[in-house]
Order: sequence, then structure tokens, then C-alpha cells
Amino acid sequence: MSVNYYFAIILIYLTACRLTAEENGTCTFTLQKGTAKNPLILKHKPKIEFFYPDPYNEDKEDERKLKSDKFNEYRLSKGEKIRVTCLDKKFEKVPHHQLVVQCVDDQLVQRRNIFMNFNDMECDDFPAATIKNIYEECHENSSIIETGYTISKVFLKVMSVCFDKNEQKVVYSWYRRSMAHRGETLDVTWPEYKYGTEYKFNVTEVYTVEYQQNLLTKILKSKSLAKKYVKDEKTNFLNKTHITWEGDYVHGAEQAITFRYINVAPVWKTIEEGSWTELKKFVRNTIITSKENSAQYRIFSGTHGVATLPDTKKVEQKLYMYTDTEKENYLPVPLYIWKIIYNKKSGKGMVLISINNPYLKKVSKDYIICKDSHPDCKNTLKQINNHTNIKKGYVFCCDVEDFCKITNNNYLLKQLIENDKA
Ligand SMILES: *[C@@H]1O[C@H](CO)[C@@H](O)[C@H](O)[C@H]1NC(C)=O
Ligand SMILES: *[C@@H]1O[C@H](CO)[C@@H](O)[C@H](O)[C@H]1NC(C)=O
Ligand SMILES: *[C@@H]1O[C@H](CO)[C@@H](O)[C@H](O)[C@H]1NC(C)=O
Ligand SMILES: *[C@@H]1O[C@H](CO)[C@@H](O)[C@H](O)[C@H]1NC(C)=O
Ligand SMILES: *[C@@H]1O[C@H](CO)[C@@H](O)[C@H](O)[C@H]1NC(C)=O
Repeated sequence: MSVNYYFAIILIYLTACRLTAEENGTCTFTLQKGTAKNPLILKHKPKIEFFYPDPYNEDKEDERKLKSDKFNEYRLSKGEKIRVTCLDKKFEKVPHHQLVVQCVDDQLVQRRNIFMNFNDMECDDFPAATIKNIYEECHENSSIIETGYTISKVFLKVMSVCFDKNEQKVVYSWYRRSMAHRGETLDVTWPEYKYGTEYKFNVTEVYTVEYQQNLLTKILKSKSLAKKYVKDEKTNFLNKTHITWEGDYVHGAEQAITFRYINVAPVWKTIEEGSWTELKKFVRNTIITSKENSAQYRIFSGTHGVATLPDTKKVEQKLYMYTDTEKENYLPVPLYIWKIIYNKKSGKGMVLISINNPYLKKVSKDYIICKDSHPDCKNTLKQINNHTNIKKGYVFCCDVEDFCKITNNNYLLKQLIENDKA
């Protein structure tokens, strides 16, 4: 396990902050890969919220236009203020937790007109997240955990997780709106995975090959079968997989939130790298290339069912990552991992579902649990590379309503339809 607690990496620096003919007094700066532990960059007024690059004209309801090809560029108008904060941590070079910065003429300045150099704005450690238990049932035996940051008593929600405390698994997770459109993903160095009080066992350990070989030896009653399925890290094993993708967020601090075990499920490596990656990219591209305002879309990602593997007698055995002394099973290997893309305006949504079993001989009809009645399903599947490849995760597509009914996700469906709740 890496001891690197730091999410090292976004070096913020000022590029151009000059007067241009059309935009007098505008200040711009860019986030770029680097080595800093970046602070949160927030709008100050009229209310505290994340400040994003906004290359699109998102003001209009229906149509949006690209107004800049500088996807990573933050732009402040004359006189505008932003808040740059390390929350509980301090800046490395300045003895403060937080600074308010203003765009004066063409320069970003701190109070008393000191020129603001974003290079000096690293935090000495990563800001601490806020985790809230919301006692609201979002699925059978499951309730919501909200994660985010608290600034001056304002909670900025980053990710919500519907978590099953009995089985200790993520049922689904989501965010208020896609943020991918607003800036390019920055390749940040990953922080260490965090776990709170949710797990009754060592959830770090279960993602190791040695553990899984022992586990499968018990479940399948055969060491050689276990070693066939979990060979080594390179070939295949059950790796930790983010249900909500960090790449859907812009800020490093937002991305860091996804690195919690409550947002992680055991998925076969070939599938995580295969169709799951395809689905993440498809959903993101759909939003980025849409002519419609991105606020129209809602994205939910989740798991369903319990995967099985045949034992020595060819009896299918359910896979759980941990079984306690009372024979209670925890953290199932999901049979399905899925992503919903829902369009609020049309009131329609589809779900792309990947079967998390690379060792299936064939996908029988029983595996296709819902109807592909959404008009875009067929066309969408054509755009997913290798979508019928079982080893990479066989993908099928369904209408959201049908899927939610079949998987008892009534609360989820209600949230999609009522939509502004999340
Ligand atoms: C920007 O400043 C120039 C020179 O002072 C002026 O001619 C121009 O009209 C200004 N543009 C705007 C949009 O204010
Ligand atoms: C919910 O929990 C109860 C009690 O542990 C269990 O019997 C039931 O099967 C659970 N339901 C689901 C859908 O997991
Ligand atoms: C959990 O497992 C990991 C990986 O095997 C190990 O490094 C760590 O020390 C364990 N933690 C506890 C609390 O046992
Ligand atoms: C397993 O997943 C983690 C991230 O979840 C990734 O960093 C790592 O490279 C993966 N390991 C392998 C062997 O694919
Ligand atoms: C998977 O998709 C890629 C990209 O379309 C293609 O080049 C490759 O041949 C496909 N592999 C299989 C096994 O279908």
C-alpha cells in the first residue's frame, strides 16, 4: 500500500492574465498537472460553490455553444472574487488556511493588492472531507452516505452513495450533475483509499491476489480452480473499481472523494479495463458532445446481484469477499455493474449494464434481466467496443424504468423523475 497520503498533483499556475480587446480586465488561470496538493477553488458570491472552468455557454436552456477551446481555463471577470482554501490544512508557503482572491484589472490579487501566485497555493496536506449519514432508505437495507467538503458551515456535496450496511456494498452512487463537460479531467495521482466505520472487516486486504486465492479455494473447494480464476495481478483478479468515476470530476479534491471504499466494488480486472472503461467514456462523451445543456443529464452508477463461479462439482457458488464466523456474508462480487444516463427533459433514460463474469461460457437469456425498449439502445451498443466480449464484460442496454422495477430501485427511479433531490 502506498503511504502517499497526498493527492499530490495539481499545480495551479497563472498563465495569461492579460487584457484582451474584447474582455478588458478579465483574469484567467489554468490548472495543470504538477506536484501540488491543490486547494479548493470556490466561488465566493452570491454563494459558496465550486468554481469551474466553463468553456461552454451554459446559460441557455436548450442549446449550448463552445465559447472557448481552453477547457482548463478558469476565467474571472473584472472585480470578481474567488475563495481558495485548504480547509483544515494550511498553505505550504503562506500561513493561512484560506485566501480570498480578486481579479483587479488583469491580475489576481490577495488582500492589500499582493500579487497572487498560484504556484504558492499548495496545501500542506489534502483538505479533510465531510461524511454524512442520511438516514433515508434508498434501497432495501440501504441508506445514503453523502460526501463532500464543508466551508464556513456550507456543505458542498460531491458524491452520494446508496450503501447497504448489511451486505456492506455500494448499491449505487451519483453526483448532482455531470461535471465532465466543464473542464478536462486532470490526471491526478491517486490518494490512498479511505474507509470509515462502514466495514466490519479489512476491506483493503480483500483486494489482494493471495487473499482471493484463499477465498476461492474455500468457496470452490479447489485450490487449482481458485488459481485458475485468480491467477495473478497481471492476468485477472478482483480489483477495486470505482462506481462513480473520478474522471467525471474536475477538481482534484472532488476526485479524491471517489477514493473511498464505499464507492468501490470488486470487479474483474479484464472487465474494469474492458467494458467498464468503455461505459465510463461513453457516458462522458455523450454529455460533452451533447448540444443540450449538460444540466439536463443525470448519471447514476451501481451494482446488482451476486456473481457466481462453478465449484469442482459444477455447482454455481456465490462470491462474497468476506464471511464472518457467524456465516454472514459481506461485500458480494456484483454480477452486474451499470451506468444510467437519464435525460431530464425527455424524461427518458437508458442503463448500460456490464456482466461482471469473464468466465461465463455464454450469455444465456436469463442474464438479460430487462428490456431494451429505450430507442437509443441499439445504436448505443454499436458504439461500445467489444460489447459482446464476455472476457471484457458483456454489455446490454435497457430502459431505465424497466431496469429500476426489476432491480427494486424504486427510490432511484423516483429520484430520477423528481430529479432535483439529489
Ligand atoms: C477595452 O479597452 C479598449 C481600450 O481602452 C476599448 O477601446 C474597448 O472598447 C474596451 N472593450 C470593452 C469590451 O470594454
Ligand atoms: C435485508 O436484510 C434482511 C435482514 O438481514 C435480510 O433478511 C434481507 O434478505 C435483506 N434484503 C436484501 C435485499 O438484501
Ligand atoms: C489490512 O490489510 C492490509 C493489506 O493486507 C494490511 O496492509 C493492513 O495492515 C491491514 N489492516 C489491518 C487494520 O489489519
Ligand atoms: C487495480 O485498481 C487500481 C485502482 O483501483 C489500480 O491503481 C491498479 O493499477 C489496478 N491493478 C491492476 C493490477 O490492474
Ligand atoms: C475490441 O475493440 C477494438 C476497438 O474497436 C478492436 O480493435 C478489437 O479488435 C476488438 N477486440 C475484440 C476481441 O473484439
